[in-house]
Parts: sequence; C-alpha cells; structure tokens
Amino acid sequence: QSTPCRSLVLFGATGDLARRMLWPSLYALHADGLLPEQFALIGAAHSKYEPAKFAELVRNSVLGSANAAMFDEAKFATFIARVSYVSVDASSEAGMQPLRDALAPHEGGTIFYLSTSPHMFGPICRTLGAWGVHPDSRVVVEKPIGTDEKSANAVNDAIASAFAEPQVFRIDHYLGKEAVQNLLALRFANAIFEPLWNANAIEQVQITVAETVGVEGRWGYYDGVGALRDMVQNHLLQLLCLVAMEPPASFTPSAVRNEKVKVLWSLRPINGTNVHTHTVTGQYTEGFAGGQSVPGYRDEAGANKVSDTETFVALRAEIDNWRWAGVPFYLRTGKRMQRRSSEIAIHFKSAPYNIFSGIGATLQPNVLLIKLQPEEMITLSLMHKLPGRNDMQLGQVGLNLSLGDKFTQTRRRIAYERMLIDVLAGNPSLFVRRDEVEAAWKWIDGIVEGWRQTAQKPKPYGSGSWGPSAAIGLPERFGHSWNE
Ligand code: BG6
Repeated sequence: QSTPCRSLVLFGATGDLARRMLWPSLYALHADGLLPEQFALIGAAHSKYEPAKFAELVRNSVLGSANAAMFDEAKFATFIARVSYVSVDASSEAGMQPLRDALAPHEGGTIFYLSTSPHMFGPICRTLGAWGVHPDSRVVVEKPIGTDEKSANAVNDAIASAFAEPQVFRIDHYLGKEAVQNLLALRFANAIFEPLWNANAIEQVQITVAETVGVEGRWGYYDGVGALRDMVQNHLLQLLCLVAMEPPASFTPSAVRNEKVKVLWSLRPINGTNVHTHTVTGQYTEGFAGGQSVPGYRDEAGANKVSDTETFVALRAEIDNWRWAGVPFYLRTGKRMQRRSSEIAIHFKSAPYNIFSGIGATLQPNVLLIKLQPEEMITLSLMHKLPGRNDMQLGQVGLNLSLGDKFTQTRRRIAYERMLIDVLAGNPSLFVRRDEVEAAWKWIDGIVEGWRQTAQKPKPYGSGSWGPSAAIGLPERFGHSWNE
C-alpha cells in the first residue's frame, strides 16, 4: 500500500477532457468517499478565473456529464471546498510560481495530472524536476505519447527527467472500461477457457472498434495522426494484449505488464513487403451516420480538401509465439461507421468431422463474442437441434450473458474514475509502461513506413457503412470473414 498523496494538480483544468471527464470523475470519487480526507484539488491552466467562476465551470461539467444523476448540492459544496484554481504559464519556471505557492501548504505527495497538449509535458516536467519531486508524487499523462517511436521517446525522456518509471501513470482509457477489465476476469478467473485459448482451438480473432462520430471538431489534431495512430497504437493493441497475453504470475503491476509487452514484442512486422496484403485504409465521404446526414472528412470544419489521412484502418496482425503461431488477429477501427460497437470475436476451429453431413446439416464454428460497448455482453454461439422437428436439423444459438441486465442496480463508473482510483492507490497495473509504448510504436512505425514506400492512399467509404469494400476483402483473402 503506497502513502496517500495530499493533493492533485490538474493541468489543463479548463480543457475539454477536464470538463467532460475529469471534474465529473473527481466529483464522483469525492461523493463516494474515495478521496483521502486531507486532499486538495488544484486546477491549473493559462486563463484567469475568479474562484466563483471556476466553481461554476466545475459545477457545469458535473451537471453536463454522465454523473449528473448523482449530483447533490451538499456533496458538491464539500467537494468545491477542496478545489482551488491557479493561472499559470507552464512554459517557464517563473510562470509556474503561483502553483508552487498554492502547493506549499499541502506537504506530501502530489498527483500531477497533465491533461494538456503533449508539447507541454517537457516544460512542465522540467519545472517540477527543478522544484524537486516528492517521492510519493505521481504523474498522469494521456495519449498521444508521441506520434512515432522517436517522438514518444522524447516525451518519455522529458517525463523521466522528473519522475521515476513507477511514478508514471500513462492512461489508456480503454483499460479503465469495466468491460475491458472484465476480459481479465473472463480469462484468468475461469478455468474452462485456458485449455482452448491457443492456436490448437482458435482459428482467428477479430477486434473491432467502430464509432459513428466523425472528428468532432478535432481536425487539427486528427489529421496529423489518423486512425492507425489515434486508435490502433493504443486502444486496439491494448485489447489485443489482453486477449493474447500469457497468464501473469499474479495481478501485480510488473507481472501484468511484463506479459503484455511480450505480446507486443511478438508481433510480426508489417512493412513495405506486406502492407498491401495486410492492411486496408479508408477515409469517410458524406453520408448518413448516427441518425443524421453528415459531411465527408475533407468537408469537416477546418479541413483541408486534399488530406490523405485515414479515418478507417483494417489489418491482419500475426503473433509469432508458441500460443498464437498461425492465428490471425484482424483489427479494424473507423469513424462514421454504421454502428457504434466495440467487440472482440474469438472464432474457434470447426468441428473435426461432421457426423450430420449425411442428413444435410452443416456446422458453424463456435464464436465467443465479447461486446465491450455500447452494451456489455458475452455471447457464445453454439450449434443446437432446431426444436419441433423430427429430423436432426441444426441451427446456431447464442448463450448470452448481458452484464447490463444482470447488474442493473450498479452504477457504472466512467473509465476515468476507475483510473483515478488506481492512481490514488498507487497501482499502475492498468497503465501503460514505457516499454509497452515503445514496442507498440515500433510496430506501428513499420506500417506507416510501409504505406509511405508503397504510396498507399485511403479508399473512400460512405459515412454509415462498414468501411471501404476492400476491407471486406482483407480477411477473405485468407479464407475468413468479418463477424457481422
Ligand atoms: C480517443 C480517440 O482516444 O478514443 C478518439 O482519440 C476516439 O478519436 C475515442 O473517438 C474513443 O473512445 P470511446 O471511449 O468513446 O470508445
């Protein structure tokens, strides 16, 4: 058990993420009695705010969030009493002095949450390093950690100039999702799956993260990265690691993260020689998504009309180790897709022999479908006899566990609440270690370089579709098809 911190400084306190997720999460933790008793919350950002104005911003962010239903005047009053705000110029040590003054009364460890643009990580960490970081302090950073291995190293070096690796909490908010954490429980708290969880029984694995939203006013950021770097480098590879990792020796930070990074090390490179068979990219055009007609990517506000940034990517990953040799992992993610749906589909091998073929029955392979969002559901498709018939006709039926229906009374914490609880407890198991970030970038860099060498351009796809038709052809080239 680590020593509790005495304060949390939220850099970027007035920004989008802070307003949508972080203040509402901190409020919920306060309301649930999960913040230490003596614990100050200090918002820091560039603009000037009177205390009352800032309190109003925090109040509105809670009321506008998924946690609005738990808003309570009395609890909010005790919450806001913990909160103060300082205006800083984080680019220089002198500009950060107001923060130093604000922290002075709260001696002990501080959680520094850097919800800022990544180019500020360096200057902020340099100042904190110069002040001297308390050994119980922690730093929390968000993606994007760089845009390739080299720039990620520079960001990580800047952080390391002030904080030792065990003090660094790199958030991948997918790891805070209840359903994603449940993957660990499914795999390692049930004995029935492990004997089947390998190349002997599994034919292929599919991981889909489909969104109906477009770039949501973030064109400036998004256009410089694209779907591969925005989603695959982090969220999809983290999901792949949780599916593919060996059972860790224990549920401790090093044990879990050692097993995840080994998966990343085992990814077979995709580069100029195989990008054309192993990846497909797309860019959305106008269409109908999420119930409304929407513009194409190049017509979004602030867009540049000739952008070749991909808003969709599908790829075939291969893991070169004993457990997974020969089992493809098909990954795909895109914006403006037909439905919002994140899911993992484990396709098992076909039955070795069909004793029913003589009577014309065909067998479908079993699929374990783990739906992460919007609904949380686990479905195992099984073959069964069609009822009410005298002959042995077979059909496929799902054995369904809807976690939403099963646990109706429990409030689902937003991912950031779960992550903050772990930061407060000093438990980095579900945060990304430096070597994981670097291994993930190394693999992604190979793909980006492959696209550059082969001049691969994204194919247009209509908003509200499942991506370019070539994406359907990707698994088909290898005798597979997407789970629909
Ligand atoms: C973020 C990406 O990391 O994840 C966004 O930058 C994306 O582009 C978002 O929309 C998706 O998160 P969620 O929790 O809505 O699935």
